Amino acid sequence: MHLSIFVAAAGLSALAFAAPAHEKRTKLQFFGVNESGPEFGTSLPGVYGTDYTWPTLSTYNTLIAKGMNTFRVNILMERLTPSGMTGSLDAAYLGNLTQQVNYITNAGAYAIICPHNYGRFNGAIITSTSDFQTWWQHVAAVYKSNSKVIFDTNNEYHDMAGSLVASLNQAAINGIRAAGATSQYITAEGNAYTGAWTWTTATGTDGKTNAATMVSLTDSSNKLIYQMHQYLDSDGSGTSGTCVNSTIGSDRLKAATAWLRSNKKQGMVGEFAGGVNSVCEAAVKDMLSYIDANDDVWTGALWWAAGPWWGTYMFSLEPTAGPAYATYVPILAAYK
Ligand SMILES: *[C@@H]1O[C@H](CO)[C@@H](O)[C@H](O)[C@H]1NC(C)=O
Ligand SMILES: *[C@@H]1O[C@H](CO)[C@@H](O)[C@H](O)[C@H]1NC(C)=O
Ligand SMILES: *[C@@H]1O[C@H](CO)[C@@H](O)[C@H](O)[C@H]1NC(C)=O
Repeated sequence: MHLSIFVAAAGLSALAFAAPAHEKRTKLQFFGVNESGPEFGTSLPGVYGTDYTWPTLSTYNTLIAKGMNTFRVNILMERLTPSGMTGSLDAAYLGNLTQQVNYITNAGAYAIICPHNYGRFNGAIITSTSDFQTWWQHVAAVYKSNSKVIFDTNNEYHDMAGSLVASLNQAAINGIRAAGATSQYITAEGNAYTGAWTWTTATGTDGKTNAATMVSLTDSSNKLIYQMHQYLDSDGSGTSGTCVNSTIGSDRLKAATAWLRSNKKQGMVGEFAGGVNSVCEAAVKDMLSYIDANDDVWTGALWWAAGPWWGTYMFSLEPTAGPAYATYVPILAAYK
């Protein structure tokens, strides 16, 4: 399970300070947290309060007061359109999502709508770009007049053909723009769990890398951001609270940074986290500083994760008892 630490549902993106030798140009545009709950549980569509939940609205105020301005709200596609990808939107689930989105954006923050589907629907890899485009056109139509919404095409495509991942992203972009949602940012995610460290090297089932397939995406509104994830443990999965060393974050972002720059693209680290220990704390600071120092291509970063049902999960930034809250909120706040 790839857990990322940006708090889901309330997006805190962290801004890193520029290196002392440089004059800081601007703050990171997006700094926040993944907010979890609506995507929990395996039962489909599942029951609110039993299988899944929605983030506590006051969490957003708490985290915004700490400097966060972006919340990645994780949902499941099957719960929004239970009769199929091209089916109608479920009024209750949509109502809850809209309540979250409006609460966040009325508070002045960005709400990232993220289907936590890994490129799958009902467990099967999505192969119909047409159906996927329709799904996104229906969802984007609801939010087309809210420019603080950000559409995230899907969480962490993996073990698929790289060319299909790129085609699905392009279909989502086309559907969103066709709905009349032209002012919003869209984040495209890649194959191989959209890992930054393997962006130029990991290959899909067709032998193609994200670098090769994702470069040709086009957006008529020119507001496309490549969302990559980066964890700091040995296998980069975010399943261990032990970080490799204090500079592993900046090391792992270097190739993707060069790719973004040479292709004139914008990126966002949509998930990252580290355990509560001195090596990880140094590694998180190092990575955020690196992101900030390269803010010509990196727009922001989001901790994984927050949400009411995380309990004692090591990366939980849920106010105030989440194990990472006391240590990492002040660290992240320094970069806002
Ligand atoms: C970010 O949040 C979503 C939704 O809660 C979750 O499914 C995903 O796994 C998270 N990312 C990571 C890396 O954990
Ligand atoms: C949230 O969902 C529940 C049922 O799942 C529903 O009863 C409630 O009305 C929804 N809330 C909103 C604001 O739509
Ligand atoms: C951190 O680990 C990476 C990967 O093993 C290595 O390339 C790098 O040199 C290490 N950095 C330090 C400071 O030890």
